[in-house]
Amino acid sequence: MCGIIAVLNKDNGANDITNVIIEALERLEYRGYDSSGIAYLDSINKTHRIRSVGRIEKLSNEVKSYALDKKAIVGIGHTRWATHGVVSVKNAHPHKTDGISIAHNGIIENYKELSSQFNINLESDTDSEVISQLIAKFMEDDLNFEESFKKTVSLLRGTYGIVAICEEEPNILIGAKKGSPLAIGYSVDQIYIASDAIALSSLSENVIYLQEGDIVVCKNNKYTIYDKDFKEVAREITNNIVSMKDITKCGLEDYMLKEIHEEPNVLLKTFENFENPVDIKKYKSLYLIACGTSHYAGLLAKYWIEDISGILVNVEIASEFRYRNPVLDKDSLYIFISQSGETIDTLCAMRNVIDRGFDTLSIVNVENSSIIRESKYKIRTHAGMEIGVASTKAFISQALTLLLLILEKNKIPTHKIAESMQSVIDMSDFFEDMAQKIRNSRTIIYMGRGTSYPISLEGALKMKEITYVSSEGCPAGEIKHGPIALIDTDVYAVILAPHDRYYEKTISNAQEIIARNGRILTIGSGRIQNHDSIEINNTGDIGNPFVLTTAVHMLAYYTAKSKGLDVDKPRNLAKSVTVE
Ligand code: F6R
Repeated sequence: MCGIIAVLNKDNGANDITNVIIEALERLEYRGYDSSGIAYLDSINKTHRIRSVGRIEKLSNEVKSYALDKKAIVGIGHTRWATHGVVSVKNAHPHKTDGISIAHNGIIENYKELSSQFNINLESDTDSEVISQLIAKFMEDDLNFEESFKKTVSLLRGTYGIVAICEEEPNILIGAKKGSPLAIGYSVDQIYIASDAIALSSLSENVIYLQEGDIVVCKNNKYTIYDKDFKEVAREITNNIVSMKDITKCGLEDYMLKEIHEEPNVLLKTFENFENPVDIKKYKSLYLIACGTSHYAGLLAKYWIEDISGILVNVEIASEFRYRNPVLDKDSLYIFISQSGETIDTLCAMRNVIDRGFDTLSIVNVENSSIIRESKYKIRTHAGMEIGVASTKAFISQALTLLLLILEKNKIPTHKIAESMQSVIDMSDFFEDMAQKIRNSRTIIYMGRGTSYPISLEGALKMKEITYVSSEGCPAGEIKHGPIALIDTDVYAVILAPHDRYYEKTISNAQEIIARNGRILTIGSGRIQNHDSIEINNTGDIGNPFVLTTAVHMLAYYTAKSKGLDVDKPRNLAKSVTVE
């Protein structure tokens, strides 16, 4: 979703900061955005603002062609993912009112109330603009920039990560965080505020994550943090663990391909680093709560956990769970799964459970994220930084982590599974050919039984989000109850059929598709005459889902490539979904 970077030159900072902002915005591209902008003050305290719809490259070219005759000394940059107001230059951030410029992530729920209460006419269609309007208004009432900012923040309802600069007080940069991440960094000659440690990589060796309600004021070469009651506080300084290796493509064409290639290694790394913080066998039942791909990891784990341990597992979509008033059991463990650790629905669902005093465990990939910080028990998955908007390797680490909660390590043949995943990656030629055949399908239906069913959902999600081809996942036994009506010569069915206890039944379902002129790709075991198939090594009920996952990720990737699409930044999507 939206990204923020703000830079303040210290006294000794002689550099023009526009390049620093643009480069950081490029590193934030992976979060997903539709427009971007930059506002900065020059050495005679004049604001310059450039905003653009589309890629950062366009903004960068506009900034380069902008005749800057004075050095930029403090500035803010933003990538916007539209929520309130269409994608347009007018709605892009930074918003500017008089000499105040702000960038905002999140949603201000009471912006309409505030606008009418303070007689504000918004120029844009956004909720965010009310922030610059209010700060400017309070400065007219003789408050200084810092006081006006604090007063404004105290009136806001909703979620925010905000940065602001002001012409009248050009040596100050201010930020505030509630429900949307914000971190501080610093170097010898600059101080930074960003929504993401990746924006600060190569700028700051350390990061300081703000906590809920914190405000940071950067001036006089230092930063000061205030908590929600405006009391000065110290927050932990941590190493910025985002390395250049994390943010390069390692010679491959796209981050998504690099991340699929990492899947076998992620499996091994997750296995080696796993430490169990909680004995789940002492709970009567488990709730697995998440969104999107992380939710599918939960669905997969339900098959394993119930089969292996007999513990009841409820799998819940976080956005439904948080509003549904669900019947909760105090003897259950509530497990929240999230790659980013910032998904607002998952975070709020977890807060509901914490408020009721029940035990929570989070399984999260991003260090120091809100979900991992706030849960009682925590496990970090070790997938490494995931930049492609479509989640791939994180699913592998989430699934294995959930399995390790219940199964002894010596029962998981990780090396054999990783080798089988690697053999799938080595068959890229097959997937390239296959992509040509399926890319123009009207619909692609993925089907599987047992543990292959959640993988069919994952395959369909990945396919639709990066190729824009309508795709759905379906339990193979269900197709007769509706989806079979879709079948004709323009439809491809991807049958996930490893050699497991469901094999014969799944293949019978495939025959039903063939009988209706549907086209078939079988991934698993055996082949159906005159139809496409790819064999995977059988690694049993534990291993097959991992290998099938790599296969469906490869299929989606090469199909999107064959359509010439940007796989890392699919349209309308964001990496970290911090708004509802
Ligand atoms: C799909 C995808 C999304 C995420 C979902 C949850 O490829 O990436 O469906 O899985 O937005 O995100 P996290 O796991 O960060 O909570």
